[in-house]
Formats: sequence, structure tokens, C-alpha cells
Amino acid sequence: MRSQAEVNVQVNWQAICLPASMRLEIPREFERIGAIQIHGLQKVYELDGGLGVHERSSVIECIPQEALHAQMKQMAIVVPVKEERLKLIEGVLVGIPASCEVIVVSNSSRGPLDRFQLEASSIENYAKFAGKQVTIVHQKDPGLARAFAEAGYDAILDDNGLIRSGKAEGMILGTLLARWLGKQTVGFVDSDNYFPGAVHEYVSEYAAGFAMNSTRSSMVRISWHSKPKISENSLFFAKWGRSSVHSNKMLNRLLTHFSGFETEIIKTGNAGEHAISLDLALKLEYAAGYAVETHHFINLLETYGGLSENRFPEEMRERVSISQIESRNPHLHESKGDEHVEDMIDASLSVIYHSPLCPNELKCEIMDNLRQRYGEKCPDEIAPVRIYPSLSLLNLDAFLEHCDCAVMGPDETTFRFGLEPTRISAG
Ligand code: GDP
Ligand code: CO
Repeated sequence: MRSQAEVNVQVNWQAICLPASMRLEIPREFERIGAIQIHGLQKVYELDGGLGVHERSSVIECIPQEALHAQMKQMAIVVPVKEERLKLIEGVLVGIPASCEVIVVSNSSRGPLDRFQLEASSIENYAKFAGKQVTIVHQKDPGLARAFAEAGYDAILDDNGLIRSGKAEGMILGTLLARWLGKQTVGFVDSDNYFPGAVHEYVSEYAAGFAMNSTRSSMVRISWHSKPKISENSLFFAKWGRSSVHSNKMLNRLLTHFSGFETEIIKTGNAGEHAISLDLALKLEYAAGYAVETHHFINLLETYGGLSENRFPEEMRERVSISQIESRNPHLHESKGDEHVEDMIDASLSVIYHSPLCPNELKCEIMDNLRQRYGEKCPDEIAPVRIYPSLSLLNLDAFLEHCDCAVMGPDETTFRFGLEPTRISAG
């Protein structure tokens, strides 16, 4: 028989080895629209909730690190890159937990300075030190473009037969590569984030969101708590981004129109930081450029909301859960100017305006918003943005097979770096 001291030692040793957890609020409210459940914003109470087991009280859920890492093992993190500073990209990679697969989709220039090559060698060097496997592809890889063509998804190809430029187009490619690598969920993290700690937090929150919702179709969206700015020589922490105010307001108006009850539940209308289960991601439409996040909300409502005649009646039997988690780290990324912000606002309002769900009153409100921002230069109607068809229309088997074929090609535009760095794909 073991002595009490031996038992104590064993218990303590176990306690030391039990990894730490994350403590989050259970959503206080939710809106139900057809098959969709939109959860109210959840606060994080402890980024590291200590050693412990999975616990749930009436207000708080504590998810052990083991459960978070189990989610991360099934997750690919897609990092879209276009001409970002190498130091920023490396910082983002540093923040991504080791259990995740990392896919960098770059649309940086190939000449006169080959920025993509610089990115690839900096990532190769990083992967060597971190002992981490990182896949980096160029958005203009001809082999990957061919995979789209063979899969019957030509909409994403430009006149030269290559994948179009744009963040959304990079996200579509990243999503399919996540499937190719056998993952079940995909999360997106921008490459221009200054704080590796914030990136680490976002990915942990994706994992926590998935752990709290066991449905096959779920989405986790991050609403950052604050965004630091310099105002009159001192730091100011803004609560809302300039474009999210507009898209959240109009999306909530749309929900209010259908339910008859005023709501402010949507806080993440154009959350760039979000994660989706691949089952769901492979059914959604993607809007081009910066409308992609708002259009995901709209497309979910169109497909699963039961609000109009449904093209996919069988989808209504599924439950789709949307979690919104408020991150604690300040969100600091590259500042890309006022014009960029106006373009983002227009793109997100455009997908609301042009949705068949949008009622006339809301269209008028959106045009009022444009008039306020543009004055006399306001167009008569907000321009539509390109919408890519649902990925369910892409022949997935053909795409995956051609991804495999691309491995043998001659061009150096797809690399997989890791413990044994080998080039695996090219056009
Ligand atoms: P914002 O943060 O939403 O204001 O927009 P950004 O301009 O910072 O873009 C978000 C992310 O997408 C950044 O990491 C960019 O480097 C990346 N990005 C922008 N355009 C493209 C593109 O054409 N292709 C890819 N793959 N990434 C892009
Ligand atoms: Co940015």
C-alpha cells in the first residue's frame, strides 16, 4: 500500500501537469432566426483561468487548456498577406499556438523586388527555430488556379486564368487548403497585427468558442475590446472601429425588421478575426474584397434564416451557432488611411443593400448614410460588389486532387516549411 505522502506527491504532480484553462462568460442573451442562433457578446474573465477541469456555472464556463488544444489540433489558421512588413508577419506567427496548422496566403509582389521570396525565406527561418510546420502559398500560383478551374469554380479566376487579387479570394484559397490538410475548422488572423499576444488570444478564443458549441456548423467572431489611437498627444482607446459601427447598425436593423423587436445583438458585423467550422465555410458564399465578413452574416441569414424562399431547404434542419467573443488585448494593426476605411464601409453596406432580404426602408437608411458621408458626391445607388458562389458548387474532390498534383510542378510558389522543410507544391 502507498503511504499518504506518496499519494500527496502524486496528486500534486498531477495538479502541476494539468494545463491552464480559459474562463469566459456564458452568453447572456441570444437571438434565434430560423436555424441560426446568434449569441450575445461574451466577455473573457481570465485568459489563463488556472489549473483545472472543464467547469460550467450559470454564468461562467472554464475550458481547460487540453480542450482548447484539442480544438486547435483540428484548426488551420489562415494568415492573409499583402506587402506587410516581415517583422509583423513573424510576430503574428509567434502568437499562433503550436497545435494549429498555419497557412500563409500571400499576394505580395513578385517583382521588381520579389517580396514573396523574402516572406518565404523569413518564414522558413522562423519555422526552423519554432519547429513548427508552416505552409505558404502565393495567391497567383498557377497550379492552384488550375485546381479551381478543374473544380468548375472559374468565378475566382481573372483574365489571365490566375486567382483574382483580394483578401476574400485569399481566404477562399486558405479555406480550401485547410480542407486539403484535413482540418475541421479554419480561423483567420490578419498579418498586420502588432501584438503577438493579441493573436494568441484570438486563436484561444476561437478554440473556446468551438468548445462551447458542439454544433457542426459554427462561427466564432471576435469583437476587440479596444483599439489604441493617438489623440491630442495622448493614447486613446476607441471602443469601436470606424467601419464596424455602420455595418453592426444596419445588420441589427435587418434583424429588427424581421423579428419586430429592436435588437443590438450583432457586434461583429465586419470582424476580420473570425473562425468557421469547415462544414459551414464550404457552404457559404464569399463576397470579394472587404465585404467578405459582413456578407457571411447576410448569406447565413439568406441560407439558414428561413426568411425567404429557401434554395437549400434541407439546411434548415441544421443548427448554426454564431459566437461573439470580446477580446481583452488592444487591437493594433497597420494604419491604412481614411480612404481604405470608407471603402470598407461601402463594401459592407453594399452587401446588405443588395441582399434580396433588404427591405426598402433599410435601403433608404443605407443611402442616407452614404449621403451623410459623401455629400454631393453621393452616387444614386451603392455599387454592388462581386459575390462568389457558394463553395458547395465547387467540385471539392477535383480541387483536392489537383492540389495534390500541384505538388509535382516546377514553379516555386508553394512551400511547406517545418521540421523537414520540403517544397510540396507549385504550378
Ligand atoms: P483591415 O485590417 O481590415 O483594415 O485591412 P488590411 O488592409 O489590413 O487587410 C487585412 C489583411 O489582409 C492584411 O493581413 C493584409 O495583408 C491582407 N490582404 C490584403 N489584401 C490581400 C490580398 O489581395 N490577398 C491576400 N492574401 N491578403 C491580402
Ligand atoms: Co489591418
